[in-house]
Amino acid sequence: MNPALTQIGAQMSNLTGVRAIMKDIVETLQAGAGQEFINLSAGNPLILPAVEQLWRDCTAELLASSEYGDVVCRYGSSQGYAPLIEAIAKDFNKRYGLNLSDRNILITPGSQSLYFYAANAFGGLTNDGQLKEIVLPLSPDYTGYGGVCLVPEALKAYKPTLDIDTTAHRFKYRPDFSQLSITPNTGCVIFSRPCNPTGNVLSDDEVRKIAALATPHNVPVLIDSAYAPPFPALNFTPMTPVFGENILHCMSLSKAGLPGERIGVAIGHESIIQVLECFQTNLCIHPSRYGQAIAAFAINSGALPHIAAEVIRPFYQQKFGVLENTLEQAMPKNLPWFLHRGEGAIFAWLWLRDLPITDWEFYQKLKQVGVIVVPGSTFFPGLQAEWQHKHQCLRISLTGSDKEIVTGMQRLAEVTEQVYLKNGLKTRSF
Ligand SMILES: Cc1ncc(COP(=O)(O)O)c(C=O)c1O
Repeated sequence: MNPALTQIGAQMSNLTGVRAIMKDIVETLQAGAGQEFINLSAGNPLILPAVEQLWRDCTAELLASSEYGDVVCRYGSSQGYAPLIEAIAKDFNKRYGLNLSDRNILITPGSQSLYFYAANAFGGLTNDGQLKEIVLPLSPDYTGYGGVCLVPEALKAYKPTLDIDTTAHRFKYRPDFSQLSITPNTGCVIFSRPCNPTGNVLSDDEVRKIAALATPHNVPVLIDSAYAPPFPALNFTPMTPVFGENILHCMSLSKAGLPGERIGVAIGHESIIQVLECFQTNLCIHPSRYGQAIAAFAINSGALPHIAAEVIRPFYQQKFGVLENTLEQAMPKNLPWFLHRGEGAIFAWLWLRDLPITDWEFYQKLKQVGVIVVPGSTFFPGLQAEWQHKHQCLRISLTGSDKEIVTGMQRLAEVTEQVYLKNGLKTRSF
């Protein structure tokens, strides 16, 4: 059976961005039966024992409570499970001095769905045929934004500026405010902070500046806080969540140990929340309530923010240190490699300037020495401009063991040296 697909059907049945690479990785792992691969491609967080224990304990508490039947045997409101909404409002009001009511919060089945609702509620074609853009103010950014809009041409990403520290072999992206344009044609703005794939954290000032550009046009700004404090608190540099009339603060419990339960949270103005809630009712009625119920326990007791800051953050920060030290020792000093400042998330982002081959070819060469990373070109959704830089970066996951990270980076350093030298790039001092 080969049913005819609509335009949207064809588009949504495509594997976009990193999903296409993941297919190649799974096939590589299956075909290489017997061959040991160091797989540093994963976006799946590791199962940390203290985190798993937290969710076990909360599950035991739920099972023992009279709430259990109510949670799993009943439909609920589209907005989400009331005790979770209450727990988040209480925690955020106290923590950040806000004045949130239950009308400011929406729970979704994972935060990916939230971006899908927003991208299509605010981006795409209006009734009078005008194209409303979904602006990604700093590319590269989360590859999952690539597939969220039913009108793909609505996605528009902007090239960043680069702060480069040549001697230290480090760099950092910044939004290019001389180019960034938010106009009446903008439907919404989305960016991740901390950023997947780069680990970048936009400063509070940069965030406020973006929000201020959007304010006169009534444009919602979605701040994807999947790695932000208070949970999972995967920021290695101080950062404060920024709130505001046109800001939708979007969270996920995936990196706090519940990716399988699919819990996303949107916090923002009631008018935005209502639009997204209706979208959700039409799509799936409401997210599953079991995960929401245990999350409410973990937030109310304070255990979730505590474990995030005391267990999850130090775990990945230490991994970044291992990766950074290994590259420092193993990478040739006279080649133009630059590691993005490790400010958060669960990845490192490496830029190989003037790389004589593409990131995809480099990925293939690394596979030959048993190391798998993700080629960077998949992380530039919506960036139409041709830019060499897109083909010179790699995303390296911090989910490997220390030993895997060390060996993986040593092999990567060897491949880097071979590739530059073999292709005639003269080494020079930096
Ligand atoms: C930046 C970012 N946003 C959103 C998501 C989607 O998360 P979920 O749908 O599991 O909440 C991810 C997942 O890796 C991510 O890295």
